[in-house]
Amino acid sequence: MQSARKPDATIIIIFGAGGDLTWRKITPAFYNLFLDGWLPDKFAVIGLDIKEMSDDQYRERLHDGIDQFSRSGKSKQEDWEKFAQLINYRKADFTNSKSYEDLSKQILEIEKTWGEKSNRIFYMAIPPAFIEPIADQLGKSDLAEDKDRARIVVEKPFGRDLTSARNLNKILCNIFNECQIYRIDHYLGKETVQNMIAFRFANALFEPIWNRNYIDHVQITVAEQVGVEHRGGYYENAGALRDMIQNHLLQLLCLVAMEPPVSFNADEVRNKKVDVLRAIRKYKSDEVNSHAVRGQYDKGWIEGKKVISYREEPGVNNNSETETFAAIKFFIDNWRWHDVPFYLRSGKRMAERISVITIQFKPVPHSAFPAESIENWHPNRLILNIQPARGIKLRFQAKKPGLKMILNPVEMDFNYDHIYSTDPPEAYETLILDVMLGDATLFMRGDQVEAAWEIIMPILDKWQIASSADFPNYVSGTWGPEEAEALIAKDGHNWIMLQAKSVEGSQMK
Ligand code: BG6
Repeated sequence: MQSARKPDATIIIIFGAGGDLTWRKITPAFYNLFLDGWLPDKFAVIGLDIKEMSDDQYRERLHDGIDQFSRSGKSKQEDWEKFAQLINYRKADFTNSKSYEDLSKQILEIEKTWGEKSNRIFYMAIPPAFIEPIADQLGKSDLAEDKDRARIVVEKPFGRDLTSARNLNKILCNIFNECQIYRIDHYLGKETVQNMIAFRFANALFEPIWNRNYIDHVQITVAEQVGVEHRGGYYENAGALRDMIQNHLLQLLCLVAMEPPVSFNADEVRNKKVDVLRAIRKYKSDEVNSHAVRGQYDKGWIEGKKVISYREEPGVNNNSETETFAAIKFFIDNWRWHDVPFYLRSGKRMAERISVITIQFKPVPHSAFPAESIENWHPNRLILNIQPARGIKLRFQAKKPGLKMILNPVEMDFNYDHIYSTDPPEAYETLILDVMLGDATLFMRGDQVEAAWEIIMPILDKWQIASSADFPNYVSGTWGPEEAEALIAKDGHNWIMLQAKSVEGSQMK
């Protein structure tokens, strides 16, 4: 979100430096920022983890991660050697104050050679249970004393319910000011998601019709083909509602529904999103079943390959009641959106990997055309393709060429790949650069996270007490359980058919 300036001198301290996230996402992101010239001239990473490793052993592990996961492909030897010099590793016990004293000494030594103080970014790439003891130790040490320079980055899941999220906020806010806390939701760093703000607020065309008078309903689909992979242990205690809806999908909903911000000040944008979250209708327990559907994948086929059911995945209980799919109908009780349904769905092992937002407009109030010309009449539809296709399409009616007036839906299509020749940065690159620059616009504020949990809690509570006797209830490689179709069909709609593989992006029913 920032303009083109490089960050000040920075030291990133990664807790969980030996973990998967650091290997797959965080270090490749740093590496690409390095290649593109975004890292400050004075920059160092200190990786901390429990394992004994030399700097060189650690660097080699990261080298392998970069070669596998960097968007710029396999690293060139010369680039890698320069980048590797920026990385240090230390074995640390996160609960022992001595580790923090040693860390402090190392940071001071680096700053001494630089001849200046640096921003200190404490990156929590660790399971949530470690956050409290680490934050506690940081608070006791002198490491985070400088409120202008110390920042903490916290990955999701941010709590597992409203109570634990509130506790976590309390713990962090005892040590850091809110403006020092960067809660990551990586969807907000995606190029196409950031573009939603540009699309909505840099164009005068749509804003006047962006409301209940013209919009019939909104659909947000985030579908994945992968199963839980090696994350069965984590996922068993999460489920689709916590893992995807509470954060990524509700954030997408906020971007669709928020009022225009007065400026791009981080708090101004986040205030507008919190307003949306607060206006979302909270369901009573007896309303949950008519507004929310859950599912769990059975075995099936993905891309011609046989895949196992969720209950057979490693780390998963063979009677598991954890949902791998959720579809929910939300309402936003405010002036702009009153009575406009927002249908959200997300699931694993679905037919396609695709994330799409569809704005379905209302039909024209009166048709002046004869019956034979309107056989193929569809109201306007705007499709925001988030991934893998990236772009925006607008469907409208046109006259089919010929001697008769026959109407036919056609599309205007903005496709990133046709317009831009360079690959956009990965979400983590954008977000990490923003942390270094001190811009929190794309991060979740404490009250935002809590407001999102407040919406989800009645559904979580209901699902907790009511058993899901029909699990598994959808075959891998399909669009989820039949009840999800019924949820939307009872309002006279259907989930818009999506095809990620199509060159043009999503197709339409
Ligand atoms: C993560 C979830 O936040 O997002 C994962 O924990 C999910 O379960 C992932 O697979 C999806 O992200 P993306 O960027 O691949 O759509």
